[in-house]
Amino acid sequence: MRCLSYWATIALQLFCHLGPATAVAVPRQKNYTGGNGGIIAPKVFIISMFEPESEAWKTSMVESGTGNLNDSKIDMPGLSMLYPQVLCTADHSVCQLTAGEGEINAAASAMALVLSDKFNLTQTYFAVGGIAGVNPKYSTLGGVALSRYVIQVTLQYELDAREKPDNFSTGYFAYGTEGPSEYPASIYGTEVFEVNDALRDAAYGFAQKAELSDSPAVAEYRAKYREAGAEYAAATELPTVVKCDTATSDVYYTGTLLSEAFEAVSQVWTNGTGEYCMSAQEDNAVLEVLVRGAIQGLVDFSRVLVIRTGSDFDRPPPNVTAYQHLLEDQNGFSTAVANLGKAGAEIVRGILQGWEQTFQTGIKPTNYIGDIFGSLGGQPDFGPGSQANGTGYAAAPVQRRAAQMRTRGYRGASVVRRRI
Ligand SMILES: *[C@@H]1O[C@H](CO)[C@@H](O)[C@H](O)[C@H]1NC(C)=O
Ligand SMILES: *[C@@H]1O[C@H](CO)[C@@H](O)[C@H](O)[C@H]1NC(C)=O
Ligand SMILES: *[C@@H]1O[C@H](CO)[C@@H](O)[C@H](O)[C@H]1NC(C)=O
Ligand SMILES: *[C@@H]1O[C@H](CO)[C@@H](O)[C@H](O)[C@H]1NC(C)=O
Ligand SMILES: *[C@@H]1O[C@H](CO)[C@@H](O)[C@H](O)[C@H]1NC(C)=O
Ligand SMILES: *[C@@H]1O[C@H](CO)[C@@H](O)[C@H](O)[C@H]1NC(C)=O
Ligand SMILES: *[C@@H]1O[C@H](CO)[C@@H](O)[C@H](O)[C@H]1NC(C)=O
Repeated sequence: MRCLSYWATIALQLFCHLGPATAVAVPRQKNYTGGNGGIIAPKVFIISMFEPESEAWKTSMVESGTGNLNDSKIDMPGLSMLYPQVLCTADHSVCQLTAGEGEINAAASAMALVLSDKFNLTQTYFAVGGIAGVNPKYSTLGGVALSRYVIQVTLQYELDAREKPDNFSTGYFAYGTEGPSEYPASIYGTEVFEVNDALRDAAYGFAQKAELSDSPAVAEYRAKYREAGAEYAAATELPTVVKCDTATSDVYYTGTLLSEAFEAVSQVWTNGTGEYCMSAQEDNAVLEVLVRGAIQGLVDFSRVLVIRTGSDFDRPPPNVTAYQHLLEDQNGFSTAVANLGKAGAEIVRGILQGWEQTFQTGIKPTNYIGDIFGSLGGQPDFGPGSQANGTGYAAAPVQRRAAQMRTRGYRGASVVRRRI
C-alpha cells in the first residue's frame, strides 16, 4: 500500500499511531517480496566492502562458470548510497552486497540485508571479507586467509604513546583495565567472534584449487622482508591460502609497534588461540549483525566464512620507517583483489557443487561459534563466560516487532513528503 497524498499520509500515520489492535496482530513471518514476487534464497551471499573487491568476485565467477552477478540487480532500502543494489546471478543462487568501507557502513548495510523482506537467508552461506593489511609472520601480498576469529582490536582506551607510563608496552589497553595485556573488564559484546572451523576447513580445501596471481612488482616488495630472517619468512614466499585470524579496526594502523600490540591483544582476547594475520575495517561489524540475525532465526551463524587477502603489509621491512612504508606503493592491491576473486570463486563453486550432498543441511560446527556473550548458546572458549546461561538469547517477540516496523515505515514516508 502506498500513500498517494499528503492527507492520506496523515490519516495513515494517525491510524498507525493510535493503531487498533488489528495493526499489531499481523503475523510476523517475513513476507518475502523479492524475485518477481517469489522468494530469493541464495545459497551464497558475498559481502564485499567496496567496488574493486566486488568486481573481482564478479570477474572470477564469470571465468569459473558460476554465474554473472550483474544479471540481476535488486533495489533495497538502507544500503550504502554508493552501492544501493544487491547483485545476484540470474538464478539467484549467488548474491553480493557491497557494504561500504569501515565498521559503520558495514553494520548498517548488513543489517538492512538481514532484515530485508526480499531474501530468505536461513540456509545462506555468507562469505564476508575483502582485502587487508597482512602480517608478514603469517602471509604475504596476495596471500589468502580464512579466519576462525575476528577481533576488534582497537575497541580500547588509547593514550598517545608520548604520554603513556614508561612501563607500558603500548598506549592501548582494554576497557576497565589499568594497563596493556589485561582481559577487558568492561565488555561491549563485539570484541571477538568465532566462526565454524569445520566449514572453514571445507572452504580451505576449495580455495586451494585457485591458481593465485603474483607479479614481479609484488615479488620486489616481498623480497625486502628477506633481511628479517625466519620471523618474516612467510612474507617472502609466493601467495598461498592460510588459516589465521582477522583484526578489525576503523583506524588504519601501520608499523611494527602497533601491529605487535594488536597481535598481543588478539592473543589475550581469544585466550591464547587467535593469531591475527590480516587487519581490516569491517568483519566484527558484519558478524555482530549476523549474530543478531541468528538470534531471530533469520540467518544460520554456522554458515559464515571470513576471507581476507593481503594488499599491503601491516608493518615495514627492515630499514624502512613505518611512515615510508605506509606511503610507498607496495604493489599488492591488484594482486590481492584478483586473489580474493579467484579463491572466492572456488569457494562459491565448491558450495554450489556440494549443495545437495553437504551444504544444504550444513556442516555441523565442532568448535564454539558466536560472540563473547554466548548469544547463540554454548560456552565461548574465550571471554569471561556466557552471559546467556549457556542457552543463548531468545528472539524478540515477533508480532509486535513487525507491526512497529510497519508503523515506522509509514511515518518516514510522511516526513519526506512534508519537506517537499
Ligand atoms: C503477504 O503477501 C501476500 C501476497 O502478496 C498478501 O496477501 C499478504 O497480505 C501479505 N502478508 C503480510 C503479512 O504482509
Ligand atoms: C558488471 O557491470 C559493471 C557496470 O555496471 C561493469 O563495469 C562490469 O565490467 C560488469 N562485470 C561483469 C563481470 O560483467
Ligand atoms: C525459508 O527457507 C527455509 C529453508 O528452505 C524454509 O524452511 C522456510 O520455510 C523459508 N521461509 C519462508 C518464510 O519462506
Ligand atoms: C607500571 O608500573 C606501575 C607502578 O610501578 C605498576 O603499578 C603497574 O602495574 C605497571 N604496569 C605495567 C603494565 O607493567
Ligand atoms: C639494514 O639495517 C641493518 C642494521 O639494522 C644493516 O645490517 C643492514 O645492512 C641494513 N640493510 C640495508 C639494505 O640497508
Ligand atoms: C579467558 O581469560 C580470562 C583472563 O585470563 C579469564 O578470566 C577467562 O576466564 C578466560 N576464559 C576462558 C573461556 O577460558
Ligand atoms: C539467565 O538466568 C537468569 C536467572 O535465571 C535470568 O534472570 C536471565 O534472564 C537469564 N538470561 C538469559 C539470557 O536467558
